[in-house]
Amino acid sequence: MTRLFKFIIPYRKTLILVVMLLFLQTLGTLYIPTLTADIVNNGIVYGDIPYIIRTGGIMLLFAVLTGIFAILGTWFSAILSSGTGRDIRNALFRKAQRFSINDFNSIGTASMITRNTSDVNQIQQALIMVLQMMLPAPIMAIAGLILAFSKNAFMGGIIVVTMVIFMILAVIIERKTMPLFGLLQTGMDKINRFMREYITGVRVIRAFNRTDFERRRVNTSFEAYAQTAIRINKIFAVAMPLVLMLLNLCTLAIIWFGGIQIGQGAMEIGDIMAVIEYAMLILFYLVMAVMVFTMIPRAEACAKRISEVLELDPEIADAPAELTAELSEEKLAFHHVTFCYQGAEEPVLSDLNFSCRAGETTAIIGGTGSGKSTIASLIPRFYDIQAGTITIDGVDIKTLSQKTLRDKIGFVPQKAFLFSGTIADNLRYGKEDATMDELRRAARIAQADAFIGDLKYGYETRVAQGGNNFSGGQKQRLAIARALVKKADVYIFDDSFSALDFKTDANLRAALKAEVHGAAIIVVAQRVSSIVDADQIIVLDNSVIAGKGTHRELLENCPVYREIAESQLSKEELA
Ligand SMILES: Nc1ncnc2c1ncn2[C@@H]1O[C@H](COP(=O)(O)OP(=O)(O)OP(=O)(O)O)[C@@H](O)[C@H]1O
Ligand SMILES: [Mg+2]
Repeated sequence: MTRLFKFIIPYRKTLILVVMLLFLQTLGTLYIPTLTADIVNNGIVYGDIPYIIRTGGIMLLFAVLTGIFAILGTWFSAILSSGTGRDIRNALFRKAQRFSINDFNSIGTASMITRNTSDVNQIQQALIMVLQMMLPAPIMAIAGLILAFSKNAFMGGIIVVTMVIFMILAVIIERKTMPLFGLLQTGMDKINRFMREYITGVRVIRAFNRTDFERRRVNTSFEAYAQTAIRINKIFAVAMPLVLMLLNLCTLAIIWFGGIQIGQGAMEIGDIMAVIEYAMLILFYLVMAVMVFTMIPRAEACAKRISEVLELDPEIADAPAELTAELSEEKLAFHHVTFCYQGAEEPVLSDLNFSCRAGETTAIIGGTGSGKSTIASLIPRFYDIQAGTITIDGVDIKTLSQKTLRDKIGFVPQKAFLFSGTIADNLRYGKEDATMDELRRAARIAQADAFIGDLKYGYETRVAQGGNNFSGGQKQRLAIARALVKKADVYIFDDSFSALDFKTDANLRAALKAEVHGAAIIVVAQRVSSIVDADQIIVLDNSVIAGKGTHRELLENCPVYREIAESQLSKEELA
């Protein structure tokens, strides 16, 4: 919780203002019953009309002033709580941008979303409630009791006894509801997780006729959430009438014993009205304060979840001092690289050695799950390797800042992902100021120019979320063009040609070779035909390099490669 106070500090002036306004508002509210008592005692009892009018006027003035304080108080607390909410969200987002993939996994995507939305909301609401409902309670209690005791000590006593009974009741309710509020938040996490999966996987779910199964699964999580909420409300359903009864008993006691006091001449009639009013105000604010108090543990749970994110040290950090890399012929090299996924027992890659030179194409081939994509994701440092070094332009990538490193890389992921916006927006993703000519050139190399030209709005065509209004092959080509717009030293194409037909694939490779100079090109492929003319082919098998060389060389001396090639190419092609 204390971690989050940091976010309120910039608003301390607003906070002080809110507290002052609350103080004035509370005193104003309490002054009105005192004036009522005066009107009754001095005005009505003696039939003094001018006194009634005068005091009534003062009352009106105070009512208006109190109203203004209340409005300003609410206004400033809204500024404070929304500002704090925004700052927390910004901090969460900034932090998340530095997270590695493992960091994300350790928290969970769905949970990240709940934390940034619902958790922050809870804190925001709690903040505004604490300011508006809880802070006035002690002021109201102290000032109200002083006023009540000044009217009549016995009456003050009745209010104190009621307060004590109420507090005991509140503690009992608190004990019962507290754990349930914790359950609500984790329940929300679960709902988000299922909903996310349900929405992103809707095609698979329908194709497999699993709609009912999924509905049951999602419903269970809704049901659990609802049951918890109902249990909480059941407790409140019993508690609320009890509290109301307590308030009524208090009023009854004041009237009863007040009547006796008046009979004895120890109190005036108007004072009873004032005391009832004080009692109601004190107890009302106390009830409010207790209700808000039940929100605090929930907000605290949220605050804890948010701090977890804010305090998580990103696994992949920049080296303190950055080495500058001189451009070199050897663009990329792996030296004895061994990598194991977190939690996995066996390394996916062991003792990998290879280097890629400027202007050359290096192809990586191997069965599914042999670690091709893993190699691709090690280069931009999505994961850190356990042993060995990866160098770009002769410099260990760990000594470069992540920004410098990633600036040098043009990356086409295996699963093409586009952002909502226009085609041009997407192509400019790696170079915001790219000209139309640059976009066209990249699109031409990526063989995307023709199909973009056929679209009614060309480069201004809208791309739906995730690029879902394009075919798999179109998406891949746009993703390739996006990487090419960016000037990079190393281009990585992770199985990016797989959704292209043979002709497009061949044209694309020819264009790449002709147009991209000075950069190393890494092509992960499944199809031997896509890589026959690569300068160097790396064959992955069982986490090690089974062969390295050109198509010809490998056919001769790498059995693993020959097997792959023979299964895909005809006798004539092999010859
Ligand atoms: N995030 C991950 N966490 C743990 N293990 C992973 C992760 N990603 C991949 N793996 C494992 O690492 C191995 C290599 O995966 P990788 O994605 O690199 O294969 P690939 O060669 O690209 O396969 P494909 O040709 O199917 O794309 C697989 O056995 C896979 O189970
Ligand atoms: Mg892969």
